[in-house]
Amino acid sequence: MTDQIEKLRIEFEKALSEVGSASDLEKVRVRFLGRQAGLLTEVLHGLKNLSLEERRTVGAGANRLKNEIEAKIAGAEKRFKEAPKVTIDLTLPGPEIRTGRLHPLTRVMREAVTFFERLGFQVREGPEIETEYYNFDALNTPADHPARDVHDTFYLAPGILLRSHTSPVQVRVMEKEKPPVRIITVGRCYRRDAQDASHSPVFHQLEGLMVEKGTRFTHLKGILTMFLENIFPFPLRTRFTPSFFPFTEPSAEVSISCPVCQGKGCSSCGHSGFLEILGCGMVHPNVLRNVGYDPKTITGFAFGMGVERIAMIRYGIPDIRLFYENDLRFLHQF
Ligand code: DAH
Repeated sequence: MTDQIEKLRIEFEKALSEVGSASDLEKVRVRFLGRQAGLLTEVLHGLKNLSLEERRTVGAGANRLKNEIEAKIAGAEKRFKEAPKVTIDLTLPGPEIRTGRLHPLTRVMREAVTFFERLGFQVREGPEIETEYYNFDALNTPADHPARDVHDTFYLAPGILLRSHTSPVQVRVMEKEKPPVRIITVGRCYRRDAQDASHSPVFHQLEGLMVEKGTRFTHLKGILTMFLENIFPFPLRTRFTPSFFPFTEPSAEVSISCPVCQGKGCSSCGHSGFLEILGCGMVHPNVLRNVGYDPKTITGFAFGMGVERIAMIRYGIPDIRLFYENDLRFLHQF
């Protein structure tokens, strides 16, 4: 009989170790302690057939096992109750998957480039470290022009500077290529501007040049109007006003109607109803001469604009510094 109790103990330990849920545990309890046919219950019932001597030893062992089983089942029960219930709410949205995004300046530059490529313009690049010749002289900028001042341009050495605009690329391309030339260039430019909401010492420009026989101001006007209507996602009017640049003649400034007040005048457009966007004009005969073109037989137009300014108006960004701070809360919106 004592052997049988020992076997039951081993059997119980095995059964308990295989329990995986509260209902499994209840089955184990019934199997060993069930009132009708529990294995240990049967042993206890059988005690009455034993001699007094046997009843004492076997009874003591059986009762010890009974207490042990009850204690272990109670312990296991507690563990099942304490284990947190895993419930899955299938109606909840899944966790957000954050994908990479293009920087708003990259988006504007790529879109602009795509637009001009469709019109047969090709992308060209030039160095950010330029010579005074390409940045100013070849572009017909007089020696006493204020832009040449060390207060406006970063000089690295005499005659060497960080380009203050993308216009020198025009000259570099025309020197190497024969007309027809239709090129677009985008890139970083540098000016000694104090940083504020609308100025940054490093910024980006987008520049275009088209030189081929018969090019007229109307071509410039048509292409730029189409471009501005394309790059801004709202209806707009364009306005060309006479201006001056050393490298174009005639020169014009192009503005678009203010998207906030539709041209009526409000605080965001300085009550003028228009926002200045870019500079342009017909390439100055001196610039054509400087690259070996004959201004009597060939004409062209050029234009240049700030990429940040376009992106700020397009997306309603109030401060240029937001572009460079790499704040994910900002970048994630584009
Ligand atoms: N380079 C000028 C600037 O930085 C912008 C510009 C004006 C470029 C007229 C042009 C142009 O090509 O024709 O302000």
